[in-house]
Amino acid sequence: MADPERHPFLQGLSKHRGAPPTVVVIFGASGDLTARKLIPAIYNLSFDNLLPADFHLIGYGRKPIPDEEFRSIASAAIKDYSRRELDAEVWGRVAANTSYVSGGYDEKAGFDRLAAKIFSIEKTIGSEAQSLFYISTPPSVFGPIIQNLGASGLGSRYVGKAHHSKVIIEKPFGRDLDSARALNAELRSVFEENQVYRIDHYLGKETVQDLLVQRFANSIFEPLWNRNYIDNVQITVAEDQGVGTRAGYYEQSGCLRDMIQNHTSQLLALTSMEPPGSFDAEALRDEKVKVLKAIEPIGLGQGGDACRAQYAEGMTAGKSVPGYLQEAGIAPNSSTETFAAIRLFINNWRWQGVPFYLRSGKRLPRRVSEIAVQFKKPPGTIFPQKEGFNLAANTLSFQIQPDEGLSMILNAKIPGLETRTQPVKMSFRYATTFGSNTPEAYERLVLDAMIGDGTLFIRGDEAETSWKLYTPLLDFWRSEGRTGMGGYAAGSWGPVCADELLSAHGHAWRKP
Ligand code: BG6
Repeated sequence: MADPERHPFLQGLSKHRGAPPTVVVIFGASGDLTARKLIPAIYNLSFDNLLPADFHLIGYGRKPIPDEEFRSIASAAIKDYSRRELDAEVWGRVAANTSYVSGGYDEKAGFDRLAAKIFSIEKTIGSEAQSLFYISTPPSVFGPIIQNLGASGLGSRYVGKAHHSKVIIEKPFGRDLDSARALNAELRSVFEENQVYRIDHYLGKETVQDLLVQRFANSIFEPLWNRNYIDNVQITVAEDQGVGTRAGYYEQSGCLRDMIQNHTSQLLALTSMEPPGSFDAEALRDEKVKVLKAIEPIGLGQGGDACRAQYAEGMTAGKSVPGYLQEAGIAPNSSTETFAAIRLFINNWRWQGVPFYLRSGKRLPRRVSEIAVQFKKPPGTIFPQKEGFNLAANTLSFQIQPDEGLSMILNAKIPGLETRTQPVKMSFRYATTFGSNTPEAYERLVLDAMIGDGTLFIRGDEAETSWKLYTPLLDFWRSEGRTGMGGYAAGSWGPVCADELLSAHGHAWRKP
């Protein structure tokens, strides 16, 4: 097979986007995310020569770990999780500048040791270096870390210069409106907004960015992108996996918090926002906030706009699997939803009356994420409504994952001497056009934060706007306990209530 790195469409692309000398500090260095995503992302950036010449990595955690051991943990993580195999030379360059500092998150002395380490790195490289603090810990220690970054002075270094200290913060960004506001206030007590990078890793996915390019670099879509031509929009983020080993986290979260409030709603915002004046972090995020603010409150209770359910035992990939309540670590009377579907209406000129249907769930038939824009049927039809005249609504679907790409359903004539029709699919696939060497979301996001580009990160007001929309529903579901909780067999496309949200408007879920 041709080397994807040499694909003709990829040649001549800039390899270096110019980050200044950088020290990345990972809090939660021995955690799962660090091993699965962050270390492999840094390794692949190094592979692509995208790290600055003076790049240093410091792991910070409670557990005392010698530098050498941290380096071997990191190289094992690359072997296990990187999209590319471990190349000793490439990793050697990063490993030579990788170290570990142990300390508590609420221990100021630990942060002083960290500061001393950063100063000594600056001395070695002979220049100022930006610090990028990556908070990849459970939310219970977000507060102490932020406060200690403030108290140690690390959070406010070089403010006013492009290489000021930056902080990346992982989800969950709060668990409702009040907690998101409190976290924003805590961040603001130490950092300026332009120092804060709130991650939603969906924004780092290639096809999510492609959505913006498709919408705003092609002139054919914009005239049709409104209530006059679009009938409904269906956004699906489906997973075949169950709760796995994350029961402790998931029981406190549930599908609405884990997927809908952030990932799925980001897809909604990018699909429905107005064209920004420029491809610039503030312009783009202003538009996302505007459209999120224009969403009508979610109707609660029977006949409302939301449906929730838990998976029951069933079959996935030919194997029988237990129901959610039978999984290890799940309370037998848990009222945590593993599936949620929501019907939203955007109250603005462009979208008035067009339903946006969102659904996400665990233990669905397969892992697939897509945005399907369904156009209105042609007014009447000159073709007879009988056998052989199969006509479908035109549907433009953005395939976020897997098999990334874009497809359009059109109606075509079946070849032959009589006129017969059939829906056909016109497709663009990333893998066939560009080769299958797509970077992982975290590579793009870590690089963007190093460069200081906040376009693909969530702004503080955006996080609050989204929580404002969903918090009344979360409160309602909490007050209801298990009342109204639907069920679905593992391996099925979800509960009946999800179908009813659509059938009430004459729609049906498209099979992704
Ligand atoms: C995470 C959720 O944010 O996204 C997980 O916490 C979920 O529950 C994951 O499995 C899905 O991400 P991806 O990139 O695999 O679609």
